[in-house]
Amino acid sequence: MLKISTFTIILLFIKITVHSQSIDQKVEDLLSRMTLEEKVGQMNQYNGFWKATGPVPEGGSDAKKKYDDLRAGKVGSMLSVRGVEDVFALQKIAVEETRLGIPLMFGFDVIHGYQTQSPIPLAEAASWDMEAIERSARLAAKEASAAGLTWAFAPMIDISRDARWGRVMEGGGEDPFLGSKIAAARVRGFQGKDLTDPSTIAACAKHFAGYGFAEAGKEYNTVDFGTSTLFNVSLPPFKAAVDAGVSSIMNAFNELNGVPATGDSWLQRDILKGDWGFEGVVLSDWASIRELVVHGYARDRAHAAEIAAKAGSDVDMESYAYVDHLVDLVKEGTVPIEVVEDAVRRVLKMKFKLGLFDDPYRYCSVEREQAVTGSNEIMEGVLEMAKKSIVLLKNEGNLLPLKKSGQKILLLGQLAESKNSPLGSWRLASIDHTAVSVLEGMQAYSDNELKYMQGPMAYKGQESFLQPIMVNESDKTGLKEAVTAAVDADVVVMVLGEHGFQSGEGRSITDLSLPGLQEEFLKAVYKANKNVILVLNNGRPLAIEWAAENIPAIVEAWQLGTQTGHAVASVLYGDYNPSGKLPMTFPRNVGQVPIYYNHKSTGRPFPQPIVFWSQYIDVPNSPLFPFGYGLSYTTFEYSELETKVSDDGVEVSINVTNTGSMEGEEIVQVYIRDKIASVTRPVKELKGFSKVSIRPGETVTLIFKLGRAELGFYNNQGKYVVESGAYDIMAGGNSRDVLSQEVSINWK
Ligand code: NOJ
Repeated sequence: MLKISTFTIILLFIKITVHSQSIDQKVEDLLSRMTLEEKVGQMNQYNGFWKATGPVPEGGSDAKKKYDDLRAGKVGSMLSVRGVEDVFALQKIAVEETRLGIPLMFGFDVIHGYQTQSPIPLAEAASWDMEAIERSARLAAKEASAAGLTWAFAPMIDISRDARWGRVMEGGGEDPFLGSKIAAARVRGFQGKDLTDPSTIAACAKHFAGYGFAEAGKEYNTVDFGTSTLFNVSLPPFKAAVDAGVSSIMNAFNELNGVPATGDSWLQRDILKGDWGFEGVVLSDWASIRELVVHGYARDRAHAAEIAAKAGSDVDMESYAYVDHLVDLVKEGTVPIEVVEDAVRRVLKMKFKLGLFDDPYRYCSVEREQAVTGSNEIMEGVLEMAKKSIVLLKNEGNLLPLKKSGQKILLLGQLAESKNSPLGSWRLASIDHTAVSVLEGMQAYSDNELKYMQGPMAYKGQESFLQPIMVNESDKTGLKEAVTAAVDADVVVMVLGEHGFQSGEGRSITDLSLPGLQEEFLKAVYKANKNVILVLNNGRPLAIEWAAENIPAIVEAWQLGTQTGHAVASVLYGDYNPSGKLPMTFPRNVGQVPIYYNHKSTGRPFPQPIVFWSQYIDVPNSPLFPFGYGLSYTTFEYSELETKVSDDGVEVSINVTNTGSMEGEEIVQVYIRDKIASVTRPVKELKGFSKVSIRPGETVTLIFKLGRAELGFYNNQGKYVVESGAYDIMAGGNSRDVLSQEVSINWK
């Protein structure tokens, strides 16, 4: 038995080596036949001629130049071209009309699905379910690849602690441990086991690095943080993506400690390609090379091209910097040819791995596109994911689940009937107004008397990816009628919060409360009828302090994608017992931001009778809802935390009992605190979690093993160290309510 498996492993090893050797040889052969112009062409990525996902640079809408360059072999890949017909037409030019016939790659922002939308990534993160997240990315890859695409500009794995930043909707939340697991799961999901399988798609982890720490949560803003945060918080998900075999990394718009990330050689060459041995492609973000000039880091576009290429940005997305300047820069000796060739090797290798040289049209089957797009498999998949993403935040007096008959239910709020907002923000390939609304989802439960009223508008005007949405701040039409109707209802369900286009890129905000008149609406209805269930829609943590104190039941339903209404209704009616937990802390108000559970201790963390301690004098230090928090229709009790220290670390065991009357899933979380360290450590750090289903009355014992990988940290030189001494080991159902035990570990 042992012999066979060793033999199999050796065979596999030989196969992999031979396979990669042959790709390397093919790459070298092709490279040796390429002109300098053709080499630089592989480093150039153009936007298609349709929707732009950034400001169109001068020359950016010149379709003739793009076609001419394409025919001249000066384009290596394109973004935002989609659909088999369009992809096929451009691929045909690349393959049949260029000198060497090198196929193109086609990239697209497959952020939460392609045409069929899954929940926004922040919502998916709330499932803490890596299998489900992997499957969700797998389904997105299936649909996207069937539309001709080869390259997903996802996962976005920027850790962020700032709910003001619109792009928190796109990431996995505030925690590097959870974020790393998600990063790896999504890479596995997109890329599958074999990139030549046409239902897989190359992934692109982004944005390298620090983008989620934009000052004041303002989009594209400066990032200035220490090495401890960089190495311990921001970089780990990228390392996890690299370890999972991600094909590419996108760099970032922001500067980091004075150096724009796109031009940062330390980040890209030393850490990513050097220390981590990343062999894939580094792609610039949209126009981020030309923006080096605006940052005050490059004199002009040619200088920007020089800096970015030398710093390890292999491909230029829409800056026209490489295509316009790199050939001259090499000829005059400013940029060594080795820099260009290293980049081209990476691009060609990616194309070989995708199997594009064997069949450049392998993603171009009209039949497959028709069969896969919106298929039952994908619809069912996004529905499952949506249910898993819902977080029950409050359920006083067991107002939920709703009784299935004999009830007069009043459904309120413009978002309840929206078939567009649930599709979220990054949904460029979706068809507008195609989500199942909450209203439709609830109508499917027909034994209650359901009445819907909009109440005052939540938002107005156009719903667009390119424009901020307008919030209704003054028009109270419909408010009185809704309040009057509420008096008669047994239960009022109010769907309030943010429209899908209120978060996402370019959508930072300074006020985290319910937008517009919605809080006033909520208060007025609550005055008329106390049985209010608030269903929150949002792409970021919101500050809903009044609601959290007063409204008896609150369901966090984010933007859940195409199947939103069915997912929400099945939770409201108890056909699905919610199990999600928050991947990001909810503040009491915006002034607490950035607020995150894994903060450091100050020198004065404890309350004093006098003012001299670390506090605000107007709100408590605690968040509204902590990281990792979420309820179920059943209840769980934690007991018997035990720890066993050995030379390998510590084994943690914890009992969890379902003390309620319904079967439910609990996400059991383990945290540590390294109490004294050479670089101070956070008061809590997530280091393990497990999602487990428990029957009423049943107790399960969970075992977690924490070793060097969990118990160490990166010092300020970026070196991973494990230090002997005392640790607190904690376990519980969220980051606040934990059982704790101190252990002492002496690493040998
Ligand atoms: C800019 C965004 O920052 C990036 O995430 C995206 O992939 C590109 N635009 C392309 O749309």
